[in-house]
Amino acid sequence: MPLIAPSLLAANFLNLQQDCDLLNISVADWFHIDIMDGVFVPNISFGSMITKFITSTTQKFCDVHLMIENPDRYAQAFKDAGANSLTVHYEACPHLHRNIQQIKNLGMQAGVAINPHTPVHLLQDILADIDLVCVMSVNPGFGGQAFIPNTITKIKELRSIIDKQNLHTKIEVDGGITLSNAKSIIDAGAHVLVAGNTVFKAADPLAMIASLKNL
Ligand code: DX5
Ligand code: ZN
Repeated sequence: MPLIAPSLLAANFLNLQQDCDLLNISVADWFHIDIMDGVFVPNISFGSMITKFITSTTQKFCDVHLMIENPDRYAQAFKDAGANSLTVHYEACPHLHRNIQQIKNLGMQAGVAINPHTPVHLLQDILADIDLVCVMSVNPGFGGQAFIPNTITKIKELRSIIDKQNLHTKIEVDGGITLSNAKSIIDAGAHVLVAGNTVFKAADPLAMIASLKNL
């Protein structure tokens, strides 16, 4: 059974409490919290202050996806804001190993996200040090985009590397996940499905989360 991580980016920000409550009573496993700086990605979302309001509503695991440059400057702030895991982008981190150590030293799980053009084999020398790989299935920056089909090949390749090395690194897939493509993503080897629009724009978000979970 996959872990389901609804992305709050698609929530109603005029009534965040209501959407957090909805996730809390749902079978969702994680809260996925998208941070965009307008530099690494062409959009700005929100920062550690809003993150703290979100994490304060829940006992569930809060998975923070940093689509920002210089994530080392903000790791402590997101720890203080209640993040359980912090995921940084491979493409934004020339000193990735140092970034990962910092996150772990702060007591959080550490993840690395890769853009659609970044091959999975580039993670070879960091894989054993991290808890999560976030395979981007859209170009980061916006919700509601279409799933890039080549992601399936990347997930299979990554899963085979992880299994061969007997690692416990989880594969999270992020962007454009729907009820129609989720099964193929799980079958390819994903452990965690992020879904924004598919959950929050559904007529019945609770039922949608349950359907994704039970695929
Ligand atoms: C995209 C974000 C995603 C996004 C997913 O840059 O990282 O987490 O919220 O949204 P959907 O599921 O609508 O594609
Ligand atoms: Zn995300």
